[in-house]
Order: sequence, then C-alpha cells, then structure tokens
Amino acid sequence: MKIKYTIPIVFFMALVIIEKENNIISRVSDKLKQTPQTSLQSNSLSDILLEHSGSRLPGRKHILLLATTRTGSSFVGEFFNQQGDNMFYLFEPLWHVEKMLTLESGGTNATAAAKAYRDVLQQLFLCDFSLLESFIDPLPVDHITAALFRRESSSSLCEKAVCSPVVKGVFERYHCKTRRCGPLNLTMASESCLKKEHIAIKSVRVRQLDTLRPLTEDPRLDVKFIQLVRDPRAILASRMVAFAAKYKNWKEWAMGGNVPIDDDEVRKLKGNCDNIRMSAKIGLRQPLWLRGRYMLVRYEDIARFPMKKASEMYRFTGIPFTPQVKSWILKNTQASKETSGVYSTQKNSSEQVEKWRFKLPFKIAQVVQKVCGPTLKLFGYKFVSSEEMLTNKSVSLIEDKVFNF
Ligand SMILES: *[C@@H]1O[C@H](CO)[C@@H](O)[C@H](O)[C@H]1NC(C)=O
Ligand SMILES: *[C@@H]1O[C@H](CO)[C@@H](O)[C@H](O)[C@H]1NC(C)=O
Ligand SMILES: *[C@@H]1O[C@H](CO)[C@@H](O)[C@H](O)[C@H]1NC(C)=O
Ligand SMILES: *[C@@H]1O[C@H](CO)[C@@H](O)[C@H](O)[C@H]1NC(C)=O
Repeated sequence: MKIKYTIPIVFFMALVIIEKENNIISRVSDKLKQTPQTSLQSNSLSDILLEHSGSRLPGRKHILLLATTRTGSSFVGEFFNQQGDNMFYLFEPLWHVEKMLTLESGGTNATAAAKAYRDVLQQLFLCDFSLLESFIDPLPVDHITAALFRRESSSSLCEKAVCSPVVKGVFERYHCKTRRCGPLNLTMASESCLKKEHIAIKSVRVRQLDTLRPLTEDPRLDVKFIQLVRDPRAILASRMVAFAAKYKNWKEWAMGGNVPIDDDEVRKLKGNCDNIRMSAKIGLRQPLWLRGRYMLVRYEDIARFPMKKASEMYRFTGIPFTPQVKSWILKNTQASKETSGVYSTQKNSSEQVEKWRFKLPFKIAQVVQKVCGPTLKLFGYKFVSSEEMLTNKSVSLIEDKVFNF
C-alpha cells in the first residue's frame, strides 16, 4: 500500500528536480550567450549560479547618497565610508562626467548629463569603471590613472589591495593619506569592488531622481536612494561666505544699496530648489518603482541627532550598523551626549545648525522664501516674517517632521 504511493511520488520529485536543473542549465547558457557584457564578469560556474539564483548577489545593496553642495554630504558619506571591510565607497565619481560635459557657457546640457550620470552610476554599481574612465582627463592608460578626483576620500581606493607601488615622477594630486600608493589601477579597484558585500556612492550632481529609474529596474541591482536636503536659506548663507565675490551685489542690495541682484543667481536658486523638491515629491509619494528604495534625510536632523539618524539610514538600507561607524560618529560629533539628554548639548548643536540666521540678511532670507517657498514647506522649514523672528533664538525654524515611516 505504502510502496504503491511512494513510487509515483519519487518519480514526480525526480521530474521536478530534472526540470529545475534544466532551468538552471538554460539560464547558465543564456548567461554565457550574453557575454561579453559590460558588467560583472563572473569567473566560475558557481558565481553564475549564485548571480542567477536571485539575479544578483544575495543581500548586496547599492546605496546612492544624493545631495546638493553644502548639505553636509561629505560628512554623511563617511557613515558609509567608515563602515569597514565589506563596503566599497566612492566619493563624487560623477565629478569627472560633469567636468567633461561642461559647455563653454559654463553649464551642461541637462538631458545629456542626466543620461551620462545614470549610465556611469549603473556601471559603477556593477564595479565596472570603463564608462567612467572615458570621462577621466587625461584618459587612463591601461586602466591606470593618477587623476581620479578625491581618491583619498574613499577608503576603498586606498586599501592595500588597491594600492600599487609609488611611481617616481608621477604627481598624485589626490594621493592616499593612509598609505603611500602609486597611480590608481582601476582593474584592481574593480576586483576589490566585486569582493565587497555592498557599494555606496555619494553624488551632488544628479538633478532629478526620476532620471535614475532604470537603476531600480536593473535586476542585478538593489538600489537604495538616500536624499539629503537642507534649508535653502542656510545653503545660501553658506554659499555667500564661500563665494563672497559672487554675492557682492546681493550683500550691497541687502544693506539698502541700489544694486539690482543678479537675476541669473535667482534663477539658479529657484532651479535648484525646484529640482530638489520634485525629486523629494516623487520619492515621498512612493511610486511602485521606488517602494522601499527612497529615504529623505534633513541635514539639520543629522547635525542634531547624528547617531539616531545614522542608525535609521542603516536600517533603511538593510545593512548592519557596525561598531566602526558608531565609534566614528562618536569621535566626530557630540553624539555621546545625544542620548543622555543633556539639554545644553542639544541646545548647542541646535545653535550650530541655526547659526546662519545671524549671518543672512533678512532681505535675502525673504528672497529665498519667495523663490523656494514650496521647498521650505515640504521639508518643514519655518518661514520668518521679520528680522526679529529670524534672529530670535527661542524660535526654532526647524519643524519636527517624520518623512519616511
Ligand atoms: C542636449 O543633448 C541631447 C541628447 O544628447 C540632444 O538631443 C539635444 O539636442 C541637446 N540639446 C542642446 C540644447 O544642445
Ligand atoms: C593592474 O591590475 C591588474 C589586476 O591586478 C593587473 O593584471 C595589471 O597588470 C595591473 N596593471 C599594471 C600596469 O600594473
Ligand atoms: C558648542 O559646541 C562647540 C563644539 O563642541 C564648542 O566649540 C562651542 O564652544 C559650544 N558652544 C556653546 C555655546 O556651548
Ligand atoms: C522671541 O520669541 C519668543 C517666543 O515666541 C517671544 O516670547 C519673545 O518675545 C521673542 N523675543 C523677541 C526679542 O522678539
């Protein structure tokens, strides 16, 4: 009686197993037919099987930290750069692309740039530097370059495995600080990247989040976008210090001078605010293609609660928050006091975050509010209606706001 049933069941199971094997074999042969592909060149059958079992290395995350300048993105990038041995981190690789595509007018063709940014990012997430290489000036020879922008800001590019011997007479503007290395061998960088569990890239150059949609549709990638934003009034205050000459007229105008403020700068300010807001609106709406892939973080929250925000960012990416990152944050912020609830410390970091209020003339704050109003509103930055309010320390301009949960 038992045997009567067992035989068909065993037979059926065998069929299932054979069918599965067939699937794997046909997928493997598909894969072999696809070569040469630009990306992941798998070396062994087991790699191919692994890749195909989930279409990608299981658990591998591709993190893109999207920001604009003066939002503390280098600092936040360190949260990932300090993660340790299983993270491959790249700092502003798109710098080369933007530089190469800059027109004589000083701008770029936004459509062409967006496409190039997307394609380069997609390849880099697959540890393929070939397209990026074509944007590096001077062009790398045999995949060797001494000109990779801010190489030293990426600990992955200064590791022993990626450090080739120093070459006499070659000037390395962006030389590694942790050890003496010769020009960067991008083949070595790529090999090292493939061995890491995760990859993170920071960029202040992408304008519109939806231009990156194809990355979310690539079955080889599991992309997580973190968009970092900051109060545009604070960004402008910071720019006015960094690029004082450029904003000379603004200052005179704010002081009551008769100088008209530069229309071009106002237009740029508006363009930036609109881009940031549009990207964030798409992200916060959580369309299907972005579900679980988008997180919005405010600079002000990171500055005030670095440990809390870092742990939220790690939770979002699905990567364990390592002790290395925690200790880096402790060393580089006042986070040690964050949890103990010492009022003076919190007040102090809030003070740091709101320092711009005593530097930015009220008239200019008004211009930003006019041009960037919807952006301020979306991110929870309070409008000021008078000079007194701008400089009143007991009024916080940062509303408590929860974005992603
Ligand atoms: C920008 O680049 C796109 C795509 O490369 C091209 O079709 C378009 O004509 C360019 N626009 C301008 C204004 O040059
Ligand atoms: C760069 O690294 C690759 C891989 O390790 C190696 O095969 C190649 O010879 C290196 N190139 C040079 C010029 O050293
Ligand atoms: C706030 O903290 C900074 C950095 O630790 C310190 O230099 C500054 O003196 C503090 N300011 C106040 C008002 O306590
Ligand atoms: C600052 O704001 C607080 C709270 O709104 C208010 O009570 C105080 O009068 C304001 N101070 C000045 C100088 O306007």
